[in-house]
Amino acid sequence: MSEIDRVRDFYDRTVEDEWLRLERNWLEFGVTKAFLNRFLPPSATILDIGSGPGRYALDLTAAGHAVDLRDLSGQNVAFAKKEAQRRGLRLNSARPGDARDLSDLPDASYDAVLALGPLYHLTSEDDRRRVVSEAVRVMKPGGIGVFAFISRFAAAHYQLKTDPAAIETRRAVIDDFLYEGRHRLKPETDFFVDAHFVDPAEVSAIFSGTGLEQRALFGAESMMAQSEWRLAALPAAARQQWLDFAVSVAETPAALYGSEHLVFVGTKHG
Ligand SMILES: C[S@@+](CC[C@H](N)C(=O)[O-])C[C@H]1O[C@@H](n2cnc3c(N)ncnc32)[C@H](O)[C@@H]1O
Repeated sequence: MSEIDRVRDFYDRTVEDEWLRLERNWLEFGVTKAFLNRFLPPSATILDIGSGPGRYALDLTAAGHAVDLRDLSGQNVAFAKKEAQRRGLRLNSARPGDARDLSDLPDASYDAVLALGPLYHLTSEDDRRRVVSEAVRVMKPGGIGVFAFISRFAAAHYQLKTDPAAIETRRAVIDDFLYEGRHRLKPETDFFVDAHFVDPAEVSAIFSGTGLEQRALFGAESMMAQSEWRLAALPAAARQQWLDFAVSVAETPAALYGSEHLVFVGTKHG
């Protein structure tokens, strides 16, 4: 099976878990939405490519934006359509699609493009470049592009959060993420599929010469990736305080290195 087929197959098999993921990862979701609110114009036209089951797309639709949803995984697209119907929301469109080839979409047609998934599942640099150039092509001048990455430190954060006692059996995976910057699906590590990881210090340079001007680079869990699940049990008011704090420090080096997910926001030159 090719890498892209393995990624599609993985997400086709894990739709329910992917839907629930952003409930567990409430800081990742809350911090990212706070940054989207900061940069999106009202009633924006948005392409969400790599939407997964549609948490962002559905919330953005409910907030009055017009969202085209695309994902490699047909099962994720089908889930998003059903959930939109259940909530009485109308997605502008929802179809399977590959972020490397948006040739069915015209140039300069979106106020914003979200790619919160494709870049960390493509291990070839050429493929990742194609995702960015296709996203920039379909953005209007002055539009925003939002791109997610996974940190090389993510496996260490994840292990500390879930099962620190298993370090002896997990050390090889943690080191793979950190030193190799990639993960290949293997039977013994089938918690995740093929992926590419970055050092937070590398991200800005990825966008040089792409036609995007950096507006923000933030850590989606802020500095709290390891506390995220524990904090989920707090009363709502305390959670809100921690979320506000997370947003306020999300662009600091401590937050970039303390996060599993890193998000770049850029504006297309006019
Ligand atoms: C971890 S999920 C993230 C979903 C959602 N955007 C979020 O941030 O929670 C990654 C998603 O990216 C999709 N994906 C991976 N590579 C892709 C590609 N080349 N084109 C389109 N979607 C892709 C996967 O199918 C999966 O649904």
